Amino acid sequence: MNILSPSILSADFKNLSSQLKILEELGVAYLHIDVMDGMFVPSISFGMPVIKSIREDCNMIFDVHLMIENPERYIDDFVNSGADIIVVHAEAVKHLDSTINKIKSCGKQCGIAICPATPINNIIHLLPFIDMVLVMSVNPGFGGQKMIPYTLDKIRHLRKIKDENSFKYDIEVDGGINADTITDVLDAGANIIVMGSAIFKENFEENTKKYLEVLKMHIYENNME
Ligand code: DX5
Ligand code: ZN
Repeated sequence: MNILSPSILSADFKNLSSQLKILEELGVAYLHIDVMDGMFVPSISFGMPVIKSIREDCNMIFDVHLMIENPERYIDDFVNSGADIIVVHAEAVKHLDSTINKIKSCGKQCGIAICPATPINNIIHLLPFIDMVLVMSVNPGFGGQKMIPYTLDKIRHLRKIKDENSFKYDIEVDGGINADTITDVLDAGANIIVMGSAIFKENFEENTKKYLEVLKMHIYENNME
């Protein structure tokens, strides 16, 4: 199944609650939540209190992308804040195997993110055990960047490994996805599509409807489930 995961990094924070309500009414199932610490990435975004607060009246699946150093320190906090999927960066964790086990032992879905320059081989042994691989298609830290084309090869490779081994992980792609790039990432084999600026700039309701339709049509045209 193809899934849209709008990134609230580009949302209008003074109207966050009403924007989320509209997304939910339009049938958006996932919400991508970018946590940044000013260390792993240059910028600082928001953390647990914000997630906890939007959790109160939002039923979407919270796809929490932790762009923080040593995220293993905070797994319990993000679980308690209402995260459904916890995604840690392979580059930011010292003991990745124990961190994914920790997330799974909390009953949450577990994802591993890899930056553009990080080879798939670095996480190859963990692929049978995780729910999601997040392929960064820009260098993490900011919305509104241009997709790096070679990351498409990484998506294709991950898709091949998944199909050949009947692994279960979703392939999420994050960064620079818009009208020009969405078909390429879907064709390459990604099935969870993060979109920040392409959804929230200008008329976000229209954008959301448009991209939900693109995802639906891609499945239909390719006879996928
Ligand atoms: C970037 C974040 C992204 C960001 C994507 O580091 O991880 O989720 O919000 O924004 P766009 O879609 O504008 O590239
Ligand atoms: Zn993200």
